[in-house]
Amino acid sequence: MRRFLLLYATQQGQAKAIAEEICEKAVTHGFSADLHCFSESDKYDLKTETAPLVVVVSTTGNGDPPDTARKFVKAIQDRSLPADFFAHLRYGLLGLGDSEYTYFCNGGKIIDKRLQELGAQRFYDTGHADDCVGLELVVEPWIDGLWAALTKHFTSVGGKEEMSGTLTAASDASPRTDPVALELLHVESQVELLRLDDSRKKDSEVLEQSAVNKESSALAADFESSLTRSGPPLSQASLNIPALPPEYLQACLQEPLGQEESQASVTSVDPIFHVPISKAVQLTTNDAIKTTLLVELDISAFLRALVDHTSDGAERRRLQELCSRQGAPDYNRLVRDARACVLGLLRAFPSCRPPLGLLLEHLPKLQPRPYSCASSSLFHPGKLHFIFNVVEFPSDSTAGVPRRGVCTGWLATLVESILQPNTRAPPADGEEALAPQITISPRTTNFFHLPNDPSAPVIMVGPGAGVAPFIGFLQHREKLQEQRPGGRFGAMWLFFGCRHKDRDYLFREELRHFLKCGILTHLKVSFSRDARVGEEEAPVKYVQDHIQRHSKQVARVLLHENGYIYVCGDAKNMAKDVNDALVEVISKEVGVEKLEAMRTLATLKEEKRYLQDIW
Ligand code: 2AM
Repeated sequence: MRRFLLLYATQQGQAKAIAEEICEKAVTHGFSADLHCFSESDKYDLKTETAPLVVVVSTTGNGDPPDTARKFVKAIQDRSLPADFFAHLRYGLLGLGDSEYTYFCNGGKIIDKRLQELGAQRFYDTGHADDCVGLELVVEPWIDGLWAALTKHFTSVGGKEEMSGTLTAASDASPRTDPVALELLHVESQVELLRLDDSRKKDSEVLEQSAVNKESSALAADFESSLTRSGPPLSQASLNIPALPPEYLQACLQEPLGQEESQASVTSVDPIFHVPISKAVQLTTNDAIKTTLLVELDISAFLRALVDHTSDGAERRRLQELCSRQGAPDYNRLVRDARACVLGLLRAFPSCRPPLGLLLEHLPKLQPRPYSCASSSLFHPGKLHFIFNVVEFPSDSTAGVPRRGVCTGWLATLVESILQPNTRAPPADGEEALAPQITISPRTTNFFHLPNDPSAPVIMVGPGAGVAPFIGFLQHREKLQEQRPGGRFGAMWLFFGCRHKDRDYLFREELRHFLKCGILTHLKVSFSRDARVGEEEAPVKYVQDHIQRHSKQVARVLLHENGYIYVCGDAKNMAKDVNDALVEVISKEVGVEKLEAMRTLATLKEEKRYLQDIW
């Protein structure tokens, strides 16, 4: 069978799923794919590879390749490599990205460019799939075309094609039943060390938290922030969350907190600009807990380092096994693929008591969480309001309690402690109770804000917690209208959706107020789980049903009045369905084919008049 090497780098699993699909389909086309993640560098060697290479790679962060490809990218970026280093290599590359972000498909582009520079040649055109409009639009035709390109390649190399390669033997992935392995299956991902800053120059202080609506699952957190007192209006901000309470950390440490000093070489990250600054610092353990220290985690190095601090023989052997070659399948499955975090590992190996310095050296980097603010800084100077749903992972539950998302779980704990102050631990003797603090930074790629021209009409689509930024928009507009009486202000449409009118209708009173004073000109609310009786037209369950029902007005705003449309909320289903509804609206109202309507929408996106803040 004609063999090719198939490498993927994935952040959220999409590139992996696509690579697996290619691998499966390959067989029916008479090929055999040797499938590996980029990080499995011991399983492939591009320097000596004679089979064609197929790459599927996604993009993360600010146009970076996924973490699993970082080492590979670093290695090929070595400027001392000769220009013919990969001259023997023939490859095809599929990049994944989201055109809503600045560096679209940049993970793939970086690898593609460097492979070219090092002499590799494409046997098939590079594909760039856009998650914003649906990856499948590019992925499916790209995969369909791959087989012909591979056949052509193998024909051109004639008898030299490699016949011997087979799919790598599957590693023994049957779950181990020993308690440590079982625990490892349930490790939490991405829990990081608490960073509290008790300097008086705090950035932001949590002022008040409340449930937004009695029966809704959404919660709110208000922050006092110097960011919004001056400077441009802020509609999006990133939260840097301390995630681990010190008492929890204490349970994992050798020494009592606050008593010993430790020397650690750390990379700290500037809290505002997120620029890494490397430095060796002298820390007392208390300082360490209170200082923002964010470091990259090389978890296999961390595991190796833990061995010396583990007293139980069986646990020590298991740790050694996980770091060894024969333990690689377990390591990959239980640690790497499960995205095991430091705390999860420490819990899995209870006799392991590392010194604080070791933990500090290996802590994972905590990513700032971008949020849209549910408030306008014009309306509430010095304050930021956020709403959020607590992310839960029921499949990861410990003793029946689902694991919570790092950021929303932490915010929820704050909300709960303020709603029920008795549950808060009293401050230790001589210590002053500190308000919870958090570092907030403005989002650098801040695109999701009202148009500069207030006379432009605006359509806002935000079911559930997706309504958050629009409350900020409406407050902002209210303030502007107060400041400029008699000014020209465009229509504001809001398509909001929730399950039940009486239970989870977020910001109901606020929306009524905006309607009453004419700021919000059209409010269309859909209730997905209330009985819909006596509806003559097509039933309205979701926001997109209302959009279809008002197709004439929506098309007029977007196509004749130079208006803007904003969509905020769930990316997986809602944003796609709303996009489909808009295609239908344009196709119907303009009388064009769907393909033409899709082009019109793409143009609106390019002009930044169709904007999404979706997750
Ligand atoms: P559901 O949970 O009853 O399906 C906020 O979460 C609202 O968005 C809920 O009413 C939810 O409905 C709805 N919702 C779920 N899937 C959606 C989709 N694909 N498009 C639009 N709204 C959706």
